[in-house]
Amino acid sequence: MSDKNATITFDNQSIDLPILKGTFGDTLIDINPLGKLGDFTYDPGFTSTAACESKITFIDGDRGVLLYRGYPIDQLAEHSDYLEICYLLLNGELPNKEQIKAFTKNVTLHTMVHQQIYQFFNGFRRDAHPMAVMVGVVGALSAFYHDALDITDPKHRETAAYRLIAKMPTIAAMCYRYYNGLPFVQPQNEYSYAENFLHMMFSMPSEKWVSNPVLAKAMDRIFILHADHEQNASTSTVRLAGSTGANPFACISAGIAALWGPAHGGANEAVLNMLHQIGDVSRIPEFLKRARDKNDSFRLMGFGHRVYKNYDPRAKIMRQTCHDVLAEVGVQNDPLFKLAMELERIALEDPYFVEKKLYPNVDFYSGITLSALGIPTNMFTVIFALARTVGWISHWSEMVSDPSFRIGRPRQLYTGAATRDFVSIAKRSS
Ligand code: CMC
Repeated sequence: MSDKNATITFDNQSIDLPILKGTFGDTLIDINPLGKLGDFTYDPGFTSTAACESKITFIDGDRGVLLYRGYPIDQLAEHSDYLEICYLLLNGELPNKEQIKAFTKNVTLHTMVHQQIYQFFNGFRRDAHPMAVMVGVVGALSAFYHDALDITDPKHRETAAYRLIAKMPTIAAMCYRYYNGLPFVQPQNEYSYAENFLHMMFSMPSEKWVSNPVLAKAMDRIFILHADHEQNASTSTVRLAGSTGANPFACISAGIAALWGPAHGGANEAVLNMLHQIGDVSRIPEFLKRARDKNDSFRLMGFGHRVYKNYDPRAKIMRQTCHDVLAEVGVQNDPLFKLAMELERIALEDPYFVEKKLYPNVDFYSGITLSALGIPTNMFTVIFALARTVGWISHWSEMVSDPSFRIGRPRQLYTGAATRDFVSIAKRSS
């Protein structure tokens, strides 16, 4: 807190509002004292409102900075792996050798799902969207693991975190296998987290599965880059649901539902759909023309970002991984990937995109990478949810373990009808 105050004067009353300063970032005015006057503020979309204090992730969109617990994302993506990032996000510090060993053991202990969940899957239509299945199955976990649902008990919270991190790849892979009529594959704890996911997705009972380190590394990077992103819509949803005291499985399921929307988790899927729509390198100029046209709703998917106005620090890392994967699987000459790379090249030189600082974002490269890994587009948001689970559970845990946490209860600006008396149906006009 700063020693300065802001003062607001309204209806002949003045009130001092404390000024808050975090480690970095903007100065904030604490509007909580306004409640004493019975006044509220109005800020639809939370564009100027910080809803909580957090020590987990920091973003500076103008400078292209993303820090997990103070560590720059590029350093983490280069030198760390997803399970280490999970430990960092949950506990605030990077683990030492013993800590990561114990953490990995605790996670792998929980990679299998309850046998009844297999039957639960059978209740879904085969052609259900994998996100529809995931949101239901994750919510249902609270019906299976109610031995550790006391959110006031730190041990229970820790067990719930292990269970969620461990079971998400298993459930995600089951969603894919069920959709495609393939037999479910049990987790193999000898593999790394990312390898295990690829194994559960793609191995066949009839053939020996061999891990590919380039593809496993790419999967791990995608998980790291999507692990947390501060107070976005799904994380805020998890916090709001959690503020009521709801159990963590229910809260994460709420987060998955929020992520599902095309304005949030659906962008990398939109990139692939756009590439199919463009169809051929020769049609790029036509679509660039449409993207520049104010009267045309077409936008180049995977370009631009609400927060990162100079560049998306995740995109830089994902670009390299994307090229590594394309080379490894030998699809550089596949028309779709050729088209993607040509689009990237032309858009980076196009004056409209350069002037408006519309760089390719992380979803441009992650969409192409996931596709090259053989993952169908309807699984992209499922994978995003898998990776983001640790961010959600870290925020939930941070909130719930704060003794001063209260139920979230936004107010509203009511613009409906004024008070009026009930009219019986016989007297209502037709
Ligand atoms: N294609 C063409 N023009 C664009 C695009 C685009 N992708 N993005 C922005 N513009 C133009 C926009 O028309 C506007 O022009 P003008 O100044 O003439 O009105 C200008 O650039 C600024 O755009 P904006 O709409 O004010 O920017 P925003 O911050 O509201 O939107 C965005 C950000 C990500 C929604 C937008 O860039 C977009 O729709 N991009 C495509 C979808 C996409 O890739 N989304 C994924 C974002 S990454 C998600 C994550 O963090 O995980």
